[in-house]
Amino acid sequence: MNAHASKRFNQCRICGPSNLEPAFDLGPQHLANGFYKAGHPKPPMFPLHVLVCPKCGLAQLSHVVDPDVLYRNYCYVTSKSETMRRHFDWLSAKAIEVLGRKPESVLEIGSNDGAFLARWKANGCRVFGVDPAVNLAGKASDAGVPTLAMPFDERSAAHIAGRDDPPDLIIARHVFAHIDDWHQTMLALDMVAGPETLILIEVPDASKLIERGEFDTIYHEHLSYLDVSQMEYLLAVCGANGLKFKLVAEWRTELHGGSVVMGIRRGTQPMFKPAAGKSIEAWRGLSHFAAEKCEKITELFHEIPLMARFSGYGAPAKSTVMMNMVGPLDLDYITDTTKEKQGLLHPCGGIPIVRPEMLDIEPVQYAFLFAWNFQDEILARESARREAGLKFLVPLPNPRIV
Ligand code: TMP
Ligand code: ZN
Repeated sequence: MNAHASKRFNQCRICGPSNLEPAFDLGPQHLANGFYKAGHPKPPMFPLHVLVCPKCGLAQLSHVVDPDVLYRNYCYVTSKSETMRRHFDWLSAKAIEVLGRKPESVLEIGSNDGAFLARWKANGCRVFGVDPAVNLAGKASDAGVPTLAMPFDERSAAHIAGRDDPPDLIIARHVFAHIDDWHQTMLALDMVAGPETLILIEVPDASKLIERGEFDTIYHEHLSYLDVSQMEYLLAVCGANGLKFKLVAEWRTELHGGSVVMGIRRGTQPMFKPAAGKSIEAWRGLSHFAAEKCEKITELFHEIPLMARFSGYGAPAKSTVMMNMVGPLDLDYITDTTKEKQGLLHPCGGIPIVRPEMLDIEPVQYAFLFAWNFQDEILARESARREAGLKFLVPLPNPRIV
């Protein structure tokens, strides 16, 4: 991979040509999920700079890394955690509430290893997934969830539209913010959605990110940071071009530090002018707030005895940003439940990623909880190790040692 694997992007993903305003520069960063094999070259760094559109207020990254580099062989696998199971149940109930019945068919965009679709299938629905990760799409298909190993665009949409009637429900969980060309996505949705299809789009909640200083959720895969008003504006702009969809539902959840689910359907979204100035100010404020959070986290390191053994708990994508911002961290190892990550080295400092059982083989006194978004579940599950003396450094949203 080289610098040509990224492109500078200085147009607004919603409005087109626009003088994007610099808002938060996190400096050059390793690719989040840029874990690598020992003996292989370390992945390069790319700029991580948030710019804001003065017309619509959308925050987006200045550089777009080639999606083929990011996703073809993807190591992020949907969590099997209790938190995620509860979220799937909640989201399914919301979909059924809006539809007024159980959907007969469900299409998932960015379906990963098929975990969510498998649940719909077990409930008697016809399911189909589309995901650019060749390794995960294969795994899903093998497990009985038919999955097309392609990005969701006009080409894959043509294939999907040709194989079945329009689905009752389309789900796009944490994928929309990863997509570069939203106008093409809307075109592709137009090709697969029927007159009554409900489309649920789940993205990180940008307002929570800013309010709680969750700076490590800014990384190369998250190209845009949108809130409901930017989605409404996108739909209005698309509507003016003949692609008519409107927002019909909106729910907020605590998943991943705060997420928002937006329901859209065919219809006309009224045009309005979003408060772009407020968005620029908020993003600039976040750059200061993030620096304060980093300072608090580094202060906590002083509470850790010099000779104490220290590990990382979870190797989510955001652990790269965290380490780049507060590091370097001298960790013995990082545990992660994902098989795809175990045995690889972390791009920050080449720290080995190992199975969670390592905590019993080579115990540590402190663990840096990179997967802080699952803190309630993890702290409860780890009660035995905590009683035996293991302490967790929880970096966000409130830095503390517990
Ligand atoms: P995510 O926050 O992007 O979903 O990533 C969470 C990461 O943390 C993922 O690599 C799995 C890992 N993890 C653990 O290692 N142990 C756990 O108990 C949980 C919930 C996640
Ligand atoms: Zn814009």
